[in-house]
Amino acid sequence: MPETHDGRLQLYATAVEAQHEAFARDVARGLSSLPKWLPAKYFYDDAGSRLFEQICALPEYYLYRTEKAILATYAADIAAALDYLPLVELGPGNASKTQYLLAAYAQRGQPFCYCPVDISRTMLCATAQRLVATYPQLTVRALHADFAAQPQALAILDLPRKAIAFLGSSLGNFTPAESVAFLRQLVALMRPGDAFLLGIDLKKSPAVLVPAYDDAQGVTAAFNRNLLERINRELGGHFDVRRFAHVALYNEAEGRIEMHLRSDRAQEVAIEALGLTVAFAEGETIHTENSYKYTAEEVAALGQQAGLRLERTWFDPRRFFLVALFRPC
Ligand code: AVJ
Repeated sequence: MPETHDGRLQLYATAVEAQHEAFARDVARGLSSLPKWLPAKYFYDDAGSRLFEQICALPEYYLYRTEKAILATYAADIAAALDYLPLVELGPGNASKTQYLLAAYAQRGQPFCYCPVDISRTMLCATAQRLVATYPQLTVRALHADFAAQPQALAILDLPRKAIAFLGSSLGNFTPAESVAFLRQLVALMRPGDAFLLGIDLKKSPAVLVPAYDDAQGVTAAFNRNLLERINRELGGHFDVRRFAHVALYNEAEGRIEMHLRSDRAQEVAIEALGLTVAFAEGETIHTENSYKYTAEEVAALGQQAGLRLERTWFDPRRFFLVALFRPC
């Protein structure tokens, strides 16, 4: 990356596992399992990332809009609560929500630091360049890393103090047990007085939850099916994606939205790069995503198990979404 704007942009890179090998291995494993499953992280190739942006604009998908409104409304309050610490953000994408926090940091008129951490190098560099051009007092230290696989990669930023932000309800893709394990790894990188800012979707009526994952325009269905199209593109798969129905349901017992792809008939699908032919029974499903929903109390308990004390909460008026500030205990 070019060192532009007086060296206010630094790129740190870790060895990110070649996506292609990881994808091949995980598809082979998931489609050979019973029940069949695929990891949700593979939704986000270029086509999938574009579809996700369309999802965020859907009337039914309240998550993005609601969290953005909370950040816009309380930006000054949140920035002050974070003590204007260097802000490390996990998976910022284009930072369209974080911009409110950064604007509040800039408002104070002092130098500040933002460290986006993302697996997509293209997105990371574009975001970093746009932000240093926007704020003259800002230094960006961008880290190209797979933080979900290697949270300890954050250590190379070598920040004595920091606030870590994990927004967008991305934590919801982990099981509660995985969430606690992941948060513990973050806590191990923090010091007393550091901050952890979490954006997380809350439990609510399935009448609101389900349409957010099964929209009238079928964008989420296309997003789900893109996973099969990606297998076709990258692994020489022979999925006829029209033969797989998009299914979204709320699993009340587990407190999670589940997405599946259901084979509408018995069929066999060859995947050339894997030397594998996958057999589907009529009605058999591939489980493609979990999106866990919590109450504010459950969020506090989750943090506590990871060594985080809940300090502040910010909600939207309908209490659909929570932005929570934790400190390491
Ligand atoms: C990006 C994981 C927060 O679970 O709501 C959106 C992904 N899946 N529609 C979510 C998603 C289907 C999203 N997260």
